Amino acid sequence: MCGIIGYVGSDEVVPVILDGLRRLEYRGYDSAGMAVLGADSIQILRAEGKLRNLEQLAYQRPLHGTTGVGHTRWATHGAPTQANAHPQVDASGGIAVVHNGILENYAPLRRELLEDGVELSSDTDTELIAQLLGRETGPLGERVLKVLPRLVGQYAVVAVSRREPGTVVAFRQGPPLVVGVGTAENMVASDVTAILHRTRRVIYLENGEVAVVRADGVELRDRSGALVERSPETLDWDAGRVEKGGYRHFMLKEIFEQPDAIRNTVRAYLDSSRSGVNLDGLGFSGEQLARLRRIHLVACGTSWHACLVAKFILEELTGLPTDVDYASEYRYREPLLGDDLLVIGVTQSGETADTLAAMEMAREGGALLATVCNVRGSSSWRLAGARMLTQAGPEIGVASTKAFTTQLVALIVLALALRSSRGLSDGLDRTLLTELQRLPLAVEEILHTDRALYRLGTEMLAEATDSLYLGRGILYPIALEGALKLKEISYRHAEGYPAGEMKHGPIALVTEGFPVVAVATATATREKLLGNLMEVKARGAAVLAVAEADADGVRQIAALVLPVPAVHRLLQPVVAVVPLQLLAYNVAVELGLDVDQPRNLAKSVTVE
Ligand code: G6P
Repeated sequence: MCGIIGYVGSDEVVPVILDGLRRLEYRGYDSAGMAVLGADSIQILRAEGKLRNLEQLAYQRPLHGTTGVGHTRWATHGAPTQANAHPQVDASGGIAVVHNGILENYAPLRRELLEDGVELSSDTDTELIAQLLGRETGPLGERVLKVLPRLVGQYAVVAVSRREPGTVVAFRQGPPLVVGVGTAENMVASDVTAILHRTRRVIYLENGEVAVVRADGVELRDRSGALVERSPETLDWDAGRVEKGGYRHFMLKEIFEQPDAIRNTVRAYLDSSRSGVNLDGLGFSGEQLARLRRIHLVACGTSWHACLVAKFILEELTGLPTDVDYASEYRYREPLLGDDLLVIGVTQSGETADTLAAMEMAREGGALLATVCNVRGSSSWRLAGARMLTQAGPEIGVASTKAFTTQLVALIVLALALRSSRGLSDGLDRTLLTELQRLPLAVEEILHTDRALYRLGTEMLAEATDSLYLGRGILYPIALEGALKLKEISYRHAEGYPAGEMKHGPIALVTEGFPVVAVATATATREKLLGNLMEVKARGAAVLAVAEADADGVRQIAALVLPVPAVHRLLQPVVAVVPLQLLAYNVAVELGLDVDQPRNLAKSVTVE
């Protein structure tokens, strides 16, 4: 969704804004803009399309100033045109606003302003905020406090006023905003990746808070206007981790970071002997754990796929019945909540609006709330009573890779911890812990497989408009994830299906040469899967399989086997997904597509 950057300091602000926006490009956007405060003016540049268009404008019309805001827009209200790009200004042109979110009372507010004779110059909800601020009086911070009660919906807003040259005002309800605290300069951003190269000291704004940011300080107030005291926290991410580091794309870099990311995630939760799991510091009390009878997992996108895998693992290892829901569905149904229920919000960003709403609902319903999250300090992190950090480091590619495999690993570790709290641990736990520590080596082995091996699969999927991904049991979610990866970045239609369901519909798609990708590592149901593959092959399908190199029966059926090392059956999803990530990546590169910023997608979906 939209990216936001604001700066107050002594540097020329245009390069600071452009640099920040470049670091936010990964979030996905369709237009961009900036406002620069001069001595007594606000100058605005806006451009459709990629950031280079805005850069071009900035080059043609150089602006000077040391305070400003920038924005990358992911269109909600109004087409992605220059007129709808942010910043939006009030009628006097004296206040400029950038916004991430959606105003739910857009229609009545717009009607009211039009009836009052205000001439609106865009279709956006953002302009309404600028107009409302323009109609109030007093300093910008005070105007914001007066306008807040009028705004219904979700918003992260940064505003500047011509009358206050050294001030940026930020406020939020829903989508995140973070204040970066520097030396004689301060920043505001929609996420830390935009500011990490300048400061690691940050203050996360809470819902309803207003931050008045100047070069020499940050004043925080709650929605009633009362001062809020909060010291900055120091992030443990460093700026180098949001650079490509010699890789052609962030996605490829992140695929290759998986061995380390998995290693770090496992190690973070092992006890000092490395033979047991250490849940200390996660935030569960013994009493809460003793009450647990059920688990609900809520998530969106790739994180939802991690939950589908985790259901198998949690049920087998803990004996606790586990349900998985799309967060967007969960929040609007009436799940059976209660204090015997553990609800886990699984989210890379910790900012996905639906996941946060589902988590809030669970907390209100008395459930024990946990999160598996990749961003310390994010909204889900702050919301949950118990939390596990996946140690993937910043994930920039829109198509999630290392966040997914570390979620899987974290959820396995969590399952082992719950198992131990229930007194169920036995030899299986030790085996799994040993195997978990070997997992990075298995993933490394896949990453070092000869790339030429992927050639045939890449060509087949690049040429086909449709394909089917099949798996069974714990590998069925990996088929879904493999298909999602292909769709997201190559725009080729792919459908993931449990292989046993294939005869109930999808087999009708199969014609000569139709690609079927099978997740076929050694499980108890592999023979059944091979039977399904024979059926599609008999109808002309070209089968690609992910399997152990010596897998019995797979080579006879598949035109191509992408090999993975043999690992424990509960850990197979972690290795099986890696060739599918590489395959999707190769197809997108083959097709000349924008791997890291696929069309229409956003990295972090901060509105409903
Ligand atoms: C977006 C991203 C996906 C991600 C999903 C959930 O759709 O493009 O890659 O899986 O959001 O994000 P989360 O941060 O909650 O894991």
